[in-house]
Amino acid sequence: MVKTEATLVAPSLDPGLLRPDFPALDQKIHGHPLVYLDNAATTQKPTAVLRALDRYYRRDCSNVHRGVHTLSQRSTASYESARGIVQRFLGSSSDREIVFVRGATEGINLVARSFLGPRLEPGDEVLVTAMEHHANIVPWQLVCKAAGARLRVLPMDDRGELRLEELGKVLTERTRLLAAVHVSNALGTVNPVEELVAAARQRGVPVLLDGAQAVPHKAVNVEALGCDFYVFSGHKAFGPTGIGVLWGRREHLETMEPYQGGGDMIVTVGFEGSTFREPPARFEAGTPNIAGAIGLGAALEYLEELGLPQIEAYEAELLSYATQRIGSLPGIRLIGTARRKAGVLSFVVEGVHPHDVGTILDQRGVAVRVGHHCAQPVMAHFGVPATVRASFAFYNTRFEVDALEQGLREVKEIFGP
Ligand code: ALA
Repeated sequence: MVKTEATLVAPSLDPGLLRPDFPALDQKIHGHPLVYLDNAATTQKPTAVLRALDRYYRRDCSNVHRGVHTLSQRSTASYESARGIVQRFLGSSSDREIVFVRGATEGINLVARSFLGPRLEPGDEVLVTAMEHHANIVPWQLVCKAAGARLRVLPMDDRGELRLEELGKVLTERTRLLAAVHVSNALGTVNPVEELVAAARQRGVPVLLDGAQAVPHKAVNVEALGCDFYVFSGHKAFGPTGIGVLWGRREHLETMEPYQGGGDMIVTVGFEGSTFREPPARFEAGTPNIAGAIGLGAALEYLEELGLPQIEAYEAELLSYATQRIGSLPGIRLIGTARRKAGVLSFVVEGVHPHDVGTILDQRGVAVRVGHHCAQPVMAHFGVPATVRASFAFYNTRFEVDALEQGLREVKEIFGP
């Protein structure tokens, strides 16, 4: 049984009632009802989001912060109101701490370039965990290389849990930032981020948390977490693609140089030099993804209405069911068996390449992701080139888990014992 923090909250969410909110779920693939289990890659969108996008493009389409005319005022109001929704959703004390970016990846790159880069000296260290995906490794490597600093890694064990007892060895007086994933995209592990933040804070080390896989599954409060930066992507949280959020403490954002230059982030521009606006505008050069931000606001309001504790409790039950059903099939090796998990069941099928598994499942209407999940070091740890990953959202059902199980039985029949 997979235990999560939410096992004490009574599951009260009924996916049967919610599924009509997601038009894309209602279709057949190769003659079978779609079973969409690739939510860690991207989620389906509720009609509330589609309507918000449609309304913006049909009625309010205009640039923000630039026009005196009515359409521009409407779009500016909707864009800034979306910022307020994100602030409330994350429990931030000010909407000045919410920067709209393209996604979690851009948020991390922004912090690497504008916060960490200028502070790094030769010999300094950046600490990441062994279960990061590439977006929380490569940006740090790039700034480390430029400064003569180095990346250090907090290891994990064979369940896919961080080895906190090693923290004292890798969190040193040279550590300038700790970057950790809140929930692992490849394993589903929910990391003890409160403990990581407390340990880092004791040493005065700022912490960035990658919440791309946490925000769709559980309530997040950045003040309670005590971190310095938190990033997530809209499209993994039922919002549009191409929009995401960097939350940063105001005192940090105010000290940071712009990430990109352009319109809307300046106060004055002259050929001899330019001056810049306060955050968050300083980090939003050019016309932003206006529709994306508005759509993301609608998605977060939808989640708030369902209730994050209810979502977490329902998904905990579903993941536990899936773990039992799929984990007990012969020839299946689960990859990632941490005690606290959310949303993800990764596995390999003995003797069958994950790509073949994915292709056969697709023929039966079951969509999963196969590959290294942009987390090659995680694959290396478990000694596999790739896994099959079923990833869940609150609209998934036990029937869909049963369809996955049936598909896997057929895979075994095709490839023999
Ligand atoms: N990082 C995304 C995933 O895990 C794309 O699928």
